[in-house]
Amino acid sequence: MENQSTDDFQFDEKGVGPDGQIPFGGAWTLIKLEALEKYLKAFNNALSKQRFTRIYIDAFAGTGYCDIRVNGTKTSIEGSARRALAVEPAFHKYYFIELKPRKLAALRAVVADYPEKTVDFLQSDANEALKSLCTKYSWQNERAVIFLDPFGMEVEWPTLEAIAKTGAIDVWYLFPYSGLYRQAVKDTDSLDPSKVAALNRVLGTEAWRQEFYGQKRQFGLFGTNEGDERTVDHHEMLNFVSTRLKGLFPAVTEPKILYQGGDLDNPVGPPLFALYFAASNPKPRAYGLATKIARGILDTL
Ligand SMILES: C[S@@+](CC[C@H](N)C(=O)[O-])C[C@H]1O[C@@H](n2cnc3c(N)ncnc32)[C@H](O)[C@@H]1O
Repeated sequence: MENQSTDDFQFDEKGVGPDGQIPFGGAWTLIKLEALEKYLKAFNNALSKQRFTRIYIDAFAGTGYCDIRVNGTKTSIEGSARRALAVEPAFHKYYFIELKPRKLAALRAVVADYPEKTVDFLQSDANEALKSLCTKYSWQNERAVIFLDPFGMEVEWPTLEAIAKTGAIDVWYLFPYSGLYRQAVKDTDSLDPSKVAALNRVLGTEAWRQEFYGQKRQFGLFGTNEGDERTVDHHEMLNFVSTRLKGLFPAVTEPKILYQGGDLDNPVGPPLFALYFAASNPKPRAYGLATKIARGILDTL
């Protein structure tokens, strides 16, 4: 599975795969949510005897529920916001960021079941809201977990920089793996400005051009070899992402690759996302413990 070429898979421009599964969640949705929920429990347990105010920030919060389809069966499961609200020991404060007013209204109705919780709803672009939250606190007395769960390539590199700078926030980032290799097309002739902008946005550099592309090896009809072609496969592209993240955060786990189809025991289809955990606390004891917990969770999923 790991060695399957992504060039074998066809997607339309909305990112919908050949069997139309992407608009629904799948087994991968369960994996990311279980990883998050387990970590939130462990985080609150680990910090429960300490003086810190514990904050949960759901940057792409959704409605509190997710529709998934696993092996052809559709169900609705509890989403990240609802899981975070139910975690014990609880967080002291919750921020739910969501761009779509209709979704935020649905989430408000879910949160009404938890009148004892302190919740702020932010109807905003996640990047803007996160950058402002990162500077709202001094991060001397607070510790937080952020869940970055975008559909695609919405998370901008400067947002990750703002998070890393706090030195106090742990991040689960569902990196858009399929977005990456779909935007980084094989032939630079098709690398239009919107693709370039998307790659610059999520990677925070233009260095991907040198890393991913080289001169065409095959000559054209008239013996010319103008333009470049991608010379790396999707594994190498993801290694570039890992290197970028490791350059920004003191500790980053190896990503868990999440595939489009199949079930938990037997994932199939193209790789869709790469689930990363990153810790921004520069103290080795703090990031060491956080990544040990995160790795332990990822290994069981
Ligand atoms: C994959 S869903 C999140 C699912 C949610 N985490 C859950 O587990 O239930 C992504 C959500 O992000 C929202 N969204 C898309 N672009 C956004 C942006 N730029 N800022 C904030 N929210 C955005 C979408 O409306 C959608 O509800």
